[in-house]
Amino acid sequence: MSGLFQALELINSTLDYHKVLDCLMELATEVTGSEAASAILIENGQLSFVAASGTKSIEIKRVHLGRKEGVAGWVVENKSPLLIPDVSKDLRFTKKADSTSGFNTRSLVAVPLKIEEEIIGVLEAVNKKSGVFSESDIKVLSILANSAAVAIHKARLYADLNELFLSTVKSIANAIEAKDSYLHGHSERIRDFAMMIARGLGLSKEEEKNVELTAIFHDVGKIGVDDKILRKKEKLSDSEFQEIRKHPAKGAEILSSIKQLKNIIPGILYHQEHFDGRGYPEGISGKSIPLTARIIAVADAFDAMTSDRSYRTAISVKDAIKELEKCSGTQFDPVCVKAFIDNFEPRNAGGDKK
Ligand SMILES: [Fe+2]
Repeated sequence: MSGLFQALELINSTLDYHKVLDCLMELATEVTGSEAASAILIENGQLSFVAASGTKSIEIKRVHLGRKEGVAGWVVENKSPLLIPDVSKDLRFTKKADSTSGFNTRSLVAVPLKIEEEIIGVLEAVNKKSGVFSESDIKVLSILANSAAVAIHKARLYADLNELFLSTVKSIANAIEAKDSYLHGHSERIRDFAMMIARGLGLSKEEEKNVELTAIFHDVGKIGVDDKILRKKEKLSDSEFQEIRKHPAKGAEILSSIKQLKNIIPGILYHQEHFDGRGYPEGISGKSIPLTARIIAVADAFDAMTSDRSYRTAISVKDAIKELEKCSGTQFDPVCVKAFIDNFEPRNAGGDKK
């Protein structure tokens, strides 16, 4: 039983929807001594097999039932568990899942997945390996289902929030690009380039996420720079340069009020620094520059070189790579330049490739 509690704790401690389901399937199979398990959730008014274990775990996920169809439909409708010792003798059983997946169901036990009184789906264990399903299987599966339902609900909410957050991020990135037509697609390409470097450096998933968000937001401070300066085709005056140079600090300030973006602020603030200390805003050098900022610097420069700008046309990918190599150790961190060149995938290159 202690194994069960440990696994329940794991289910409750993660917000990863797929992890919750995978863990649930493994547990449901194990605690009931079954050949397979499945989670069937109410989605868009029907019952969808969202997770399964056993030999046909992939095939079964293609199955959708009507809201009142089959054993799952009965459990949802009656809000009670169901034990069927022999499915061939029970009219509530539909063969649809078996005929689609190629699985052969003989016996099953199904319990509702519910949050307080709301049913969100059904948890099933199928084909007891030895002996027959009993009341104790219903009991243990119900304990599991109660915890799992809350975890599934939380993970879904989290995924929705994350989606909302990412679409907000995209809207802001679009707003930045709208200020300067030459920046069109810039944040997306920089993100691709920066991710190539991040992967090349073997960063963790968490660090990769930071790099991705920093790439999207790195120029958010340009919202606070006069459009006329951003779009100017002629040479900029000293005071105009000074104005542009404020964009990293402005960006850091804009994002400082968003708790979820706290970790990306150093990357935003220092993305215009040079490895040799000749950049701005503070002129810091080498590893004093946060790694995320060093990564963005390479990605940003490469995209700038391979895209047309108001004051010049793009150079070829080959020439841009040569330029990165030339400035490796002065403007750029050599480790980041190498990671970029080693992992560069041309299909992601933006701008005009000549
Ligand atoms: Fe910038």
